[in-house]
Amino acid sequence: MAEASIIDGKAFAASLRKSVSRQVATLQELHGITPGLAVILVGEDPASQVYVRNKGRSTVEVGMNSFEHNLPNDIDQETLLALIRQLNNDPLVHGILVQLPLPNQICEDVVLDAINPEKDVDGFHVINAGRLATGGKGLTPCTPRGCLMMLKKWLGDLSGKRALVLGRSNIVGKPMAQLLLRESCTVTIAHSRTRNLADECRRADILVAAVGRPRMVSGDWVKPGATIIDVGINRVPDTRPGAAEGKMRLVGDVDFGSALYVAGAITPVPGGVGPMTIACLLANTITAVCNTAGVDEPEV
Ligand code: GUN
Repeated sequence: MAEASIIDGKAFAASLRKSVSRQVATLQELHGITPGLAVILVGEDPASQVYVRNKGRSTVEVGMNSFEHNLPNDIDQETLLALIRQLNNDPLVHGILVQLPLPNQICEDVVLDAINPEKDVDGFHVINAGRLATGGKGLTPCTPRGCLMMLKKWLGDLSGKRALVLGRSNIVGKPMAQLLLRESCTVTIAHSRTRNLADECRRADILVAAVGRPRMVSGDWVKPGATIIDVGINRVPDTRPGAAEGKMRLVGDVDFGSALYVAGAITPVPGGVGPMTIACLLANTITAVCNTAGVDEPEV
């Protein structure tokens, strides 16, 4: 049986980072602006620390300024809001990101909506969510933006295709569905209460899985030739022959081994969507610079 093509997110991300580097150079040359991205991390969650470190490194690599703010886990909401107000007013900071999740004493919605929407590089502010839903110009959440870029590069015109988004989170599922709708797909959002989930999946030309359930989508749920974007990053025990005892590995929401023989194309985990998310954060920071400084986005 023919194997699906592997959509190489690492290569897509490297190419996008290169474009962003060129845009940074142009902004410096034409306008004397060095884009600045501020990232706030509250607490010491190890996964969040890794994400924030990677974001900081990538930001510096493309020539931007990176401002990291590490706050203790027991910080009160008002102190966090005061920092956000300070960054909103800082002309050297064009993008602001608050790493999620936040500790229980802090209300996520209040914090996200305190960020100036023009600097909201995560695209989580209610104004940016509203702009996405109503067709306006705004900042789009990074992971769905990266998924859409890969889909368009791979498939070209998406118009009329049946797309199934598995998962309804504000970070991925809902904005992903909005983006696919903008591209004139026929969009279904499936979730934990969806009936006959396998049948829904089998109808999809494009399947975006973002539920955080390891290998939930098996090959026999996939329409032959479909394009699969696997957003899941799940740590599971490595039971492959030869793996050391207690070793863990990353797998997606899709059972790659069986889907590979049915799908037309599929993103791997790791090396698929993950690298694109940070690259899109940098691309969003360019958009934020241009919004706040009132200049045109440089051509790539
Ligand atoms: N935590 C997990 N994913 C994300 C993301 O895309 N943005 C932020 N700010 N926090 C996250």
